[in-house]
Amino acid sequence: MAPKLPLVPKGGAERTIAVLDVGTSKVAALIAIVGPDGEPRVIGTGGKPCDGLSRGLVTDFGRTETAIRGAMDLAERAAGVQVEYVHASISAGNLASLVVPAEVDIAGASITAADMAALRADGRARIDPLGRTVVHAQPALYVIDGQPGVASPLGFHADRLGMEIHVVTADTPPLKNLDRAIKLAHIGLRSLVASPLAASLSCLEAEERQLGVALIEIGAGVTTIAVHSFGMLVGVAAIPMGANDITKDVAAAFATRRSHAEALIARDGAAIASARDNHEAVEIPPMTEDSMAEPLRVTKAQIISVIRTRLDLLFREVALHLDKLGFAGPQARQLVLTGGGADLRAIAEFAAGALNRNVRIGRPRGLTALPSSQSGPAFATLAGLVLFAAAEVPDIWHAAPPPKNAGGGGRIATMIEKLRGSL
Ligand SMILES: Nc1ncnc2c1ncn2[C@@H]1O[C@H](COP(=O)(O)OP(=O)(O)OP(=O)(O)O)[C@@H](O)[C@H]1O
Ligand SMILES: [Mg+2]
Repeated sequence: MAPKLPLVPKGGAERTIAVLDVGTSKVAALIAIVGPDGEPRVIGTGGKPCDGLSRGLVTDFGRTETAIRGAMDLAERAAGVQVEYVHASISAGNLASLVVPAEVDIAGASITAADMAALRADGRARIDPLGRTVVHAQPALYVIDGQPGVASPLGFHADRLGMEIHVVTADTPPLKNLDRAIKLAHIGLRSLVASPLAASLSCLEAEERQLGVALIEIGAGVTTIAVHSFGMLVGVAAIPMGANDITKDVAAAFATRRSHAEALIARDGAAIASARDNHEAVEIPPMTEDSMAEPLRVTKAQIISVIRTRLDLLFREVALHLDKLGFAGPQARQLVLTGGGADLRAIAEFAAGALNRNVRIGRPRGLTALPSSQSGPAFATLAGLVLFAAAEVPDIWHAAPPPKNAGGGGRIATMIEKLRGSL
């Protein structure tokens, strides 16, 4: 038998992907190259602190634009390329999700591409975002004659073909304001990706997603949740509380500046106190610049007690949302924490007790040459954005009509047109 020739990969060209995570505490940019079958390779990153947002919402265009431009300049210089479009994350706008069913009649025939297109069209027509913007509409589950579990229905004989679509929506104004801030920095927006969905792509194992897992991204201003089951994203929620609230509580409790409180939490803070923390004291500088003012001396245990009070509140909210999203039962045992808040010492142990589940910290994977400074849980969303863009996740709402020329506007064009259309 003649030896088989190697298959020529489709669309063999390398692609450059640029992404932007505009967070409440920082803007992070990353540029990667994706080959036809390899892992995305990072060729440039950049970051800038940003105080132009509150709870993920742009509140100051000037500051946000400056941070975006600064972060992207650094990434562009390192990569030696100029970026035209980015995929950006969104955590603001009260992210929420719903499941929309769709169905078509097959009449015993074998399922064709035309049937799949009809199913997508039926699904699209049934999505009612109720005045909000559809961020994602992903096929979550196919059902053949009432039987779920087929990954790709093409070719199966059936009477009826059904599909459940997982739809993520957000309030429209925050998305438009983020789009505007990015535009002001002279960058185009290719697509918006819900932050917990991006973080899920970089931090969850395929096996975890099969068994059932919830990712909890604790950002500076917002905590977002993504629930996965049977390998699919099945629920998204957001809580307007984050690691900044811990900082503010500590600053208020010990009458110090937020910058001091933040450094103190990172150095001496924890979610669980050890016996030693009762005896070790730290000095906290006063709010005032007055040189006569004495620093406050408190034990580490006192600081940890303030942190825990906020964590109790946060995880109570998380528990409520997990219940609402139906994350319950024997296959809802695994939680993964990401976001800068997941860097707090002993937070996984605290969360395991508070939520009565297994908890681990998620760190981004799946990218080659990710610098160590961007490989902690605070960069889960940034790395996930690249994986989202590289995977070209199918989307029913944003799917473009057949492209006139390859590499056209596609998803971005439709999403931005829709955003504009509702102006
Ligand atoms: N070691 C640490 N211990 C506790 N908190 C930390 C630590 N390191 C960072 N943080 C907190 O994490 C937060 C930053 O997280 P992250 O970068 O995920 O937020 P963001 O993306 O800017 O915000 P958001 O996603 O909410 O808009 C800050 O509030 C910071 O205080
Ligand atoms: Mg974030």
